[in-house]
Amino acid sequence: MLNRRGLIGASLIGSGMMGGGAASAAGASSGIQLTRPCVVSTWDFGVPANQAAWAILNKGGRALDAVEAGARIPEQDLKNHSVGRAGYPDRDGHVSLDASIMDEHGGCGAVAALEQIAHPISVARAVMEKTPHVLLVGAGALQFAQEQGFPREELLTPESRAAWEAWKKEARYAPKANSEVGDYGKTSGRLGTPGGAGNHDTLGMLALDAAGNLSGACTTSGMAWKLRGRVGDSPIVGAGLYVDNEVGAATSTGVGEEVIRNVGSFLVVELMRQGRSPQDACKEAVARILKKKPNAKDLQVGFLALDKQGRVGAWAIQKGFSYALCDGTRQDRLEPGESFL
Ligand code: GLY
Repeated sequence: MLNRRGLIGASLIGSGMMGGGAASAAGASSGIQLTRPCVVSTWDFGVPANQAAWAILNKGGRALDAVEAGARIPEQDLKNHSVGRAGYPDRDGHVSLDASIMDEHGGCGAVAALEQIAHPISVARAVMEKTPHVLLVGAGALQFAQEQGFPREELLTPESRAAWEAWKKEARYAPKANSEVGDYGKTSGRLGTPGGAGNHDTLGMLALDAAGNLSGACTTSGMAWKLRGRVGDSPIVGAGLYVDNEVGAATSTGVGEEVIRNVGSFLVVELMRQGRSPQDACKEAVARILKKKPNAKDLQVGFLALDKQGRVGAWAIQKGFSYALCDGTRQDRLEPGESFL
């Protein structure tokens, strides 16, 4: 019998890795239907982000404006240490932000490794609308942002600095990919699995406006204590975000390296184009990651998708992934994502 653990269930059972799974609310296993206009976001901090987006969508506004406004909420939240100005720094103490945005015309803009600018999502939109390019990085992205009038600020908050100082005492300071999080905090108990309760990461947001157009935004400070220069999936169009106004949109959260390897969000949208529901498409994309790299079972990756009909899907490797939903019926809904483990 097919169950929701589907393709990889047998191998995970065989390896003794199958956990209890994340039970979703009734009906969630086949996805959730929203009414137009609507907006969905990753994680619990997606609830206030959705509400900011809803203020625009509810007035008949454009999905692109809604996702930018929504993404700016966690970017300015000083309690959020995985997105925007209070994001945890890299291992050298630099807060380095990644973001991308896509509109209903297939337009896209992104910034990566952007420092000292609190709202990377708005810089990404400026890249899309004011340059012939798609992605600006590092010093060039900062220069462009300043030319566009974005204020240059110190983003390392006292709390983030204290967390970084504490990490430096405990962590082995070895230049090895992902050594920054080692066992993802299981030993120290401080950080937790990327995407888990102690380490929520990316804000991915997808909106369908009253006119029936889709847009998406994705913003993060990336993996805490990352190697300087590390870029995750969030600013990589097709990996952390993809919008196709004919079909649907998808975004991702969790360990970006695994998403980039599989061009995850593009994969989800292409599966929807072939007729899969958003839920099924997200599940298949997670299964693809695990099939190609079984060790990814120790990490977290989650996908969230929204199609042109307002159907929503979400699936993750591990339990603990949540996503926020908002339409005319309710603006504060939070659901647990289903997972393989
Ligand atoms: N998903 C965010 C990152 O890996 O940077």
